[in-house]
Amino acid sequence: MGGSISAHQSEGGWDVDGKGLNYMDLVTSGSYEIPREMTEEIENDKNYPSHYGIDFYNRFRDDIQMFAEMEFKALRISIDWSRTFPKGIEEHPNQAGLDFYHEVIDRLISHDIEPIVTLYHFEMPMYLVKEYGSWLNREVIDKYLHFCETIFKSFKGKVRYWATFNETNHLDPQTELSDIFTYLLTGIKYSDLGDKKQAMAEMGYNMTVASSKAVELGHKIDPNNKIGCVFGLTSIYPFNCKPENIMNNFKDMDRNFYQIDAMCNRKFPEYKLKEYQRLGIKLEISTEDKESFRMATLDFIGINYYSSSVSKYNGSEEVEAIFADVQNPYLEQSKWGWSIGPIGLRYMMNYVYRRYGIPVMITENGLGAVDELDSERNIHDDYRVEYFKQHITEMKKAIIEDGVDCLGYLTWGPIDVISATTGEMRKRYGFIYVNQDNSGNGSRRRKKR
Ligand code: BG6
Repeated sequence: MGGSISAHQSEGGWDVDGKGLNYMDLVTSGSYEIPREMTEEIENDKNYPSHYGIDFYNRFRDDIQMFAEMEFKALRISIDWSRTFPKGIEEHPNQAGLDFYHEVIDRLISHDIEPIVTLYHFEMPMYLVKEYGSWLNREVIDKYLHFCETIFKSFKGKVRYWATFNETNHLDPQTELSDIFTYLLTGIKYSDLGDKKQAMAEMGYNMTVASSKAVELGHKIDPNNKIGCVFGLTSIYPFNCKPENIMNNFKDMDRNFYQIDAMCNRKFPEYKLKEYQRLGIKLEISTEDKESFRMATLDFIGINYYSSSVSKYNGSEEVEAIFADVQNPYLEQSKWGWSIGPIGLRYMMNYVYRRYGIPVMITENGLGAVDELDSERNIHDDYRVEYFKQHITEMKKAIIEDGVDCLGYLTWGPIDVISATTGEMRKRYGFIYVNQDNSGNGSRRRKKR
């Protein structure tokens, strides 16, 4: 039991102690109605939330102290690639960046909080985007592996649980999520991609190869390492029982799983290659890649679960889903349109565990809401308490009644952080409130809800 945060949503300190520019440093704040924007350069009149985050860079000691008081057993953080390798091409890391993460991790360990480290959570050095073309270029796989090797070696014996990537599954030639997740995952704007389907497939594939290679490397460096990958998994339900809809629902679910199949079943899945063929996408799978898939399998699968969704048959074979705009009439929605479906968590845990037979870890779960302060500056977030109660109940059923091997349960944003999809502060998830508004103003003082 514990929580998850990421570097660019919490740290701030975007240009200190030798850190390089990462692509999230160029993404502005937005809202539910106004999409975030990625600018070419830093523009003085724009608000870039990663520049200040919640100032975890300076306040992590007190924050960890609060997590310890709340009896956290684990904290998942991410290491900002650009803090350790400012451009991503250096041979030797930026020592100040490494020192920061050592201090964070040492402090967690001193409080008996298990550090769980994500190696890539929506950021990379901007230099690799601009000069190399991000994940479209296979050389970036080597740069990523060099970064991973450095981190695995530096934290050997301190960190046991790793995640190679966060939510790469959102990169797929056929999902509506592409627009936002393309820049969140690659630093390239969807509109800037030439042949979009081809590019999405290539980037998704290259990240899958990179993950498998990182798993192999991490096991070599320390056989005690438990290395997983984190996926954003939405339980997708068919629109109705019309057989075509059931078939399409099956395919929609599959879109979230092709990478896990490659990372766990020792080969890139045939059904995905066939789908690419039908879409005119060409993918080269080298002998070396095949060997990488064959050599490495994940030790656990990280499940980020927030909501379920409904897929809808639209008459064509290739449909869109995930956060599709078909509302499930049996479920309520959050203010940001995410349905609240606790049974979907039990369903997903069973689905993943039965499909792969390896442990799962709930790496993110939580409710983003606008929290109002009362006259005494207290928050009564009964809705969030209810959300957690319901989800934890379903998770227990999956473990106790269904026998799913679950390594842990981490809530998203145990302390309020910047929203990834909207860049807002007002979409809060925390047990700890941070006094900061959407423009980054406020004392940033922390207060337990
Ligand atoms: C997950 C991401 O997709 O969802 C997190 O891994 C993100 O980075 C979380 O913060 C919640 O999304 P949002 O947009 O509400 O912050």
